[in-house]
Amino acid sequence: HLSVKERIEAKRRAALAGGGQARIDAQHKRGKLTARERIDLLLDTDSFVETDMFVEHRCSDFGMEQDKNKVTHLPEVIFYFFNIIFCLCLFCFSQDFTVFGGSLSGAHAQKICKIMDQAMKVGAPVIGLNDSGGARIQEGVESLAGYADIFLRNVMASGVIPQISLIMGPCAGGAVYSPALTDFTFMVKDTSYLFITGPDVVKSVTNEDVTQEELGGAKTHTSVSGVAHHAFENDVDALLNLREFFTFLPLSNQDPAPIRECHDPSDRLVRSLETIVPLESTKAYDMLEIIKAIVDEKDFFEIMPNYAKNIVVGFARMNGRTVGIVGNQPKVASDEYVVLTPPPPFCCLDINSSVKGARFVRFCDAFNIPIITFVDVPGFLPGTAQEYGGIIRHGAKLLFAFAEATVPKITIITRKAYGGAYDVMSSKHLRGDVNYAWPTAEVAVMGAKGAVQIIFRGKDNQAEAEAEYVEKFANPFPAAVRGFVDDIIEPSTTRKLICSNLEVLARKKQVNPWKKHANIPL
Ligand code: COA
Repeated sequence: HLSVKERIEAKRRAALAGGGQARIDAQHKRGKLTARERIDLLLDTDSFVETDMFVEHRCSDFGMEQDKNKVTHLPEVIFYFFNIIFCLCLFCFSQDFTVFGGSLSGAHAQKICKIMDQAMKVGAPVIGLNDSGGARIQEGVESLAGYADIFLRNVMASGVIPQISLIMGPCAGGAVYSPALTDFTFMVKDTSYLFITGPDVVKSVTNEDVTQEELGGAKTHTSVSGVAHHAFENDVDALLNLREFFTFLPLSNQDPAPIRECHDPSDRLVRSLETIVPLESTKAYDMLEIIKAIVDEKDFFEIMPNYAKNIVVGFARMNGRTVGIVGNQPKVASDEYVVLTPPPPFCCLDINSSVKGARFVRFCDAFNIPIITFVDVPGFLPGTAQEYGGIIRHGAKLLFAFAEATVPKITIITRKAYGGAYDVMSSKHLRGDVNYAWPTAEVAVMGAKGAVQIIFRGKDNQAEAEAEYVEKFANPFPAAVRGFVDDIIEPSTTRKLICSNLEVLARKKQVNPWKKHANIPL
């Protein structure tokens, strides 16, 4: 006969014990932290407030009633917190694998939905730390209903508050769709995996032999499928990186992008940029070097660094203000070309890079983050693989994303801006606010060789015509005389100019025509 106070204490103690010491030890043995240890690392010390510690699952089938009264009587550990990372507020849930394998019961889903509703009410991001065996098998449709309740909230919250998923264990079946609906999905190498069905089902349906890791591990999703945006070494590395990443984000679509104190002078000249673009226009260079040299303190948080590497996207700061960076990467041939030897010395936009770029641009636009675009692109990738794969439809996504974006848009053409890709890459015509060209810029319908082969087909003076074409188009003047670029700038002044433009553009207000929603080509 315990007093109410003693019962409260006992329930709290049981909740804190999760699935018991043996399961906690098993979790550690796999190199994984517990749900609470993860929270302690992610959040500022003692900054969190936990909710729903007393919620219990409601299932009494398959011996679950008995379980409820034993160690696992508090079924899933999920928290919400505020005043967390660097005094920014957010809501967070952490699934506890030690309790029924983190599987999702009706009560578990209800707890997640509750914090998502709270986050929407106050306008603050949601971070989910996923580690779950999927739908609670014993609960049947109640569990499936729980997933749908979460999915609906993910969709309603999309574009309103940032949503981030960190996959820290299994995530299979229906469970994968909540992370897929969130803005960013990060994974932990070797201990996390995402798939619709596991290797056994794959074997029985398609007769393929595949390991869990090959099917849905971090490497697969960050380099092959593009489902995840980053993979980290272990739980600690992932959580510390997530803290860092979080500081780039605004709290909601009603908040401006954050501004941090900046010790890197906004008028710093970057002399190394004067010679970074090779004189030979077919020679490669590293766009990442340009980006890092320009942004505050070389600090660039790259998104999807191992997927569609022919386009670079990520977050940085300019004079303390968060910006989204998009850049063509001349150093990397598009994925498809990797199989050809030797690869052509240029990078094109292809299906994967268009989709990667488009999703990133749309995130920035939804959350008031200015977009800086560095252009060096010889066009869209030709070939049957791309055409059959729908490059027209997918390339249109990137075009659509840049065109509909109303955040400040600054574009720098470092070298090639050829063909349709010139239009797509945040051109003046798609409402680029400030468009600059470096002296090395070339804006044309296509490269000299291809152009001359078409317009001087069968004629003898090919070399002469090519030279004339280069003279006419392999420079920034045709765009500048028409006002399609606002200025031809010394590369070393790029940082200074971007910083001062962002100050002015912070006052920008632009709205698109009213619509229920746009119909981006999917
Ligand atoms: N529903 C109910 N309980 C579950 C569960 C689920 N979906 N997934 C795991 N559990 C329980 C297990 O019964 C086990 O309980 P115990 O500790 O009392 O023995 C505990 O969680 C840990 O699971 P276990 O299988 O021992 O861990 P593992 O690391 O060897 O394997 C999984 C993890 C996720 C691969 C495996 O549990 C699994 O395949 N689960 C089912 C996945 C699935 O198909 N879910 C439905 C998709 S919507």
